[in-house]
Amino acid sequence: MSLAIVRTPADLRAAVRAWKAAGDTVAVVPTMGALHAGHLALVAAARREAGRVIVTLFVNPRQFNNAGDLAAYPRTEEEDAAKLAPLGVDLLYAPGVEAMYPPGFATTISVAGVSEGLCGAHRPGHFDGMATVVAKLLLQTGADVALFGEKDYQQLQVIRRLTRDLDLPVRIVACPTVREADGLAMSSRNLRLDAQQRAAAPALAHVLSATAAEIAAGAALSRLRADAGHALAEAGFGPVEYLELRAEDDFSVVDDASRPARLLAAAWLGDVRLIDNVPVRAIPRP
Ligand code: PAF
Repeated sequence: MSLAIVRTPADLRAAVRAWKAAGDTVAVVPTMGALHAGHLALVAAARREAGRVIVTLFVNPRQFNNAGDLAAYPRTEEEDAAKLAPLGVDLLYAPGVEAMYPPGFATTISVAGVSEGLCGAHRPGHFDGMATVVAKLLLQTGADVALFGEKDYQQLQVIRRLTRDLDLPVRIVACPTVREADGLAMSSRNLRLDAQQRAAAPALAHVLSATAAEIAAGAALSRLRADAGHALAEAGFGPVEYLELRAEDDFSVVDDASRPARLLAAAWLGDVRLIDNVPVRAIPRP
């Protein structure tokens, strides 16, 4: 089964116009390729949400704050298309950089508040580049619904804010993080881990869950941070960029589970930066 691949906004619009004229609704799953089971779960959810499904594949140079990371990002379009073909995806939109950012392109979308801190503090320009391309992808596809993974939890908050602020007529659906059997959150960057790093990587998820369990039982994160850092160092991790608790409703910094929260972390394993997050709910006291 082969999959239709479209490279320009004009061809994409023509396809979507025909579907909408026939009364179909459209879901989009934006990706940067190197598809794994987490992406495929988003595609399965997209099929339940709408009659037509578009997957986008664009390694967006504007959201990389580091030229080495952009150069090393896996590019596997043929394999990606082969994975999508049997899943009932209607179209793969894979524009080139020139189609997405023609000469003279000069607009940036910047979302204040939720973009600040966490990855926003450590990856300057990342969320501006991400928000700009996501806004373009949502406008180009005209999708009724767009699906994103909770693994990039701060990204999800930025996208929700952006679609509300710009009145984009799209519903954002979040899907839970898909994990390997040993707990490691699926990520295209995992392909860059060597065998030893891959063996150490699940420690990030384990430390997050153990810390989240203590917070749920009443502890404050500020008292647990040092231990969590030591556990990661012992497992073989390099610098921990952040380990933070944020309230789920307004994404403000919190130190305990008096409100439903997310515990989020970013840490380096060799030259690979891994991020992960888990929900934290206070255990009700009798
Ligand atoms: O999560 C990603 O893969 C990217 O940030 C996204 C949303 C496709 C925008 O480039």
